[in-house]
Amino acid sequence: NNKKHLVPRPPVITIMGHVDHGKTTLLDYLRHSHVAAHEAGGITQDIGAYQIKEKGKTITFLDTPGHAAFSAMRARGARITDLVVLVVAADDGVMPQTVEAIDHAKAAKTPIIVAINKIDKPGANPKKVTNQLTRYGLIPEKWGGNTIFVNISAKLGTNVKELLDMIILKAEVMELKANPKQNAAGSVIESKLDKGKGPVASVLVQEGTMHIEDPIVVGDTFGRVRTMTNENGKPLKSAGPSTPVEITGLSSVPEAGDRFVVFDHEKDARAAGEQRAEQAQMERRKQDNTVTLSNLFS
Ligand code: GTP
Ligand code: NA
Ligand code: MG
Repeated sequence: NNKKHLVPRPPVITIMGHVDHGKTTLLDYLRHSHVAAHEAGGITQDIGAYQIKEKGKTITFLDTPGHAAFSAMRARGARITDLVVLVVAADDGVMPQTVEAIDHAKAAKTPIIVAINKIDKPGANPKKVTNQLTRYGLIPEKWGGNTIFVNISAKLGTNVKELLDMIILKAEVMELKANPKQNAAGSVIESKLDKGKGPVASVLVQEGTMHIEDPIVVGDTFGRVRTMTNENGKPLKSAGPSTPVEITGLSSVPEAGDRFVVFDHEKDARAAGEQRAEQAQMERRKQDNTVTLSNLFS
């Protein structure tokens, strides 16, 4: 019955790869050359999620930090994404976090498009890097495999258009759909405590449509959506599937990767939130006990 409400939704693409291989530079290039006109005057906020429009089609991009400390979030990133663009620097080649990203994507059964970046650099050797990647099961079509490889320079924009075309093509084949008519549900991308605004969460709406004033449970916190803005700080009244938004109105700060759901009534959201908070506290206590016990035996 739910099926009849399913409509096409934008693909969610996560850019992954080793630190400094050029993930953010690629996104910057994509945004500056393709960001819709209305966003030009807006204040860009660093929420790590962006939408661009190409040929009338919207694409949602998530940027993931390359630092090892963020591997937990990256692991979750692979689960909220339809497609991973794996950025590998042509001079540096396959590095530990490249392998980690491949493992995450594979575990989540998320298709990978490879972007071999920095081909403008003197030390660039895209062929060698392609060869390295075959050891991880990523084999280009011209070598008999089925992985799309594009050699790019995110800095100069070389072949970025081709990469984008490949992303769109691959996403179209996936026939991604969602029901915009149900209560919103999705995941937290980032969160922080803002001095003025209180708890702030960047979330990705994955199902349904989020509205201002919606009662919401996020991880083990709850609240009401007080403000909702897009990545340029533009206020929104509603946000449909695959839309990244920044929201305020939560009672505490959730964690990246936490799931959220919208409830019909605030009292239900509160009850569910409080129950989850209690559970989380119990689990923390259990973990503390385990740590104490294991200390005894080490
Ligand atoms: P983290 O988020 O820290 O993991 O890094 P990142 O993968 O987002 O890399 P970032 O975009 O910050 O780029 C790292 C450095 O590489 C910057 O100095 C960029 O200017 C440079 N860089 C990125 N892409 C290219 C490229 O295509 N060519 C050249 N020459 N430099 C590039
Ligand atoms: Na960097
Ligand atoms: Mg970056």
